[in-house]
Amino acid sequence: MKKIAAIMVFVIAIVFVVGAAMAVPPGKTVKFNAGAMGTVTFSGSVHAKAGLKCSDCHTKIFPMKAPGTPGAAKFTMSDIRAGKYCGECHNGKKAFAPNGNCTKCHKM
Ligand code: HEC
Ligand code: HEC
Ligand code: HEC
Repeated sequence: MKKIAAIMVFVIAIVFVVGAAMAVPPGKTVKFNAGAMGTVTFSGSVHAKAGLKCSDCHTKIFPMKAPGTPGAAKFTMSDIRAGKYCGECHNGKKAFAPNGNCTKCHKM
């Protein structure tokens, strides 16, 4: 039993280290359901190419969770417009602003 526990700890440690070293994971995306405004796909690759590091978002802006799962960020378009969540950068300064750019994020 002790041996199995030790192996499990080892495997979990490897998964953890590999996970932390992965880019966003590049190639990985998460999808937000925006109701009548369709789907918003957040692309890890796009943000990695923009020069962002994991720590620019995790975990001060977003937890490392898939949208809609327990512990995931809960926010609305008003929060984004108020400069929170995506709006910490998508404010017309660090990255394009919401106004006039709905379809850059929203796909129907
Ligand atoms: C520009 C912001 C941003 C950057 C940079 C970023 N992420 Fe994320 N990440 C997100 C968002 C947004 C979510 C979804 C959060 C939520 O819905 O609560 C997320 C979710 C995740 C998840 C959960 C995905 C799932 O499907 O379970 C993992 C794992 C993750 N990120 C890893 C990383 C790693 C590793 C890096 C760096 C290589 C990174 N992220 C960089 C914004 C970012
Ligand atoms: C830490 C800063 C940061 C956060 C947080 C962030 N982004 Fe970005 N995002 C950028 C930068 C920088 C770019 C590339 C420059 C640009 O397109 O203005 C970018 C580009 C994008 C693009 C590419 C648009 C195109 O046409 O190429 C989309 C879509 C996008 N972000 C959606 C999101 C969504 C959705 C969220 C929140 C879930 C989010 N971003 C959170 C910084 C951020
Ligand atoms: C930077 C990316 C981004 C841009 C640009 C953007 N949105 Fe969103 N929007 C989101 C995300 C992400 C959500 C999903 C929030 C959630 O449910 O967690 C969302 C949700 C919504 C919702 C669902 C209800 C709500 O209030 O959350 C509406 C409606 C909406 N957006 C309208 C718009 C309109 C109109 C524009 C253009 C003026 C726009 N959005 C531009 C990212 C964006």
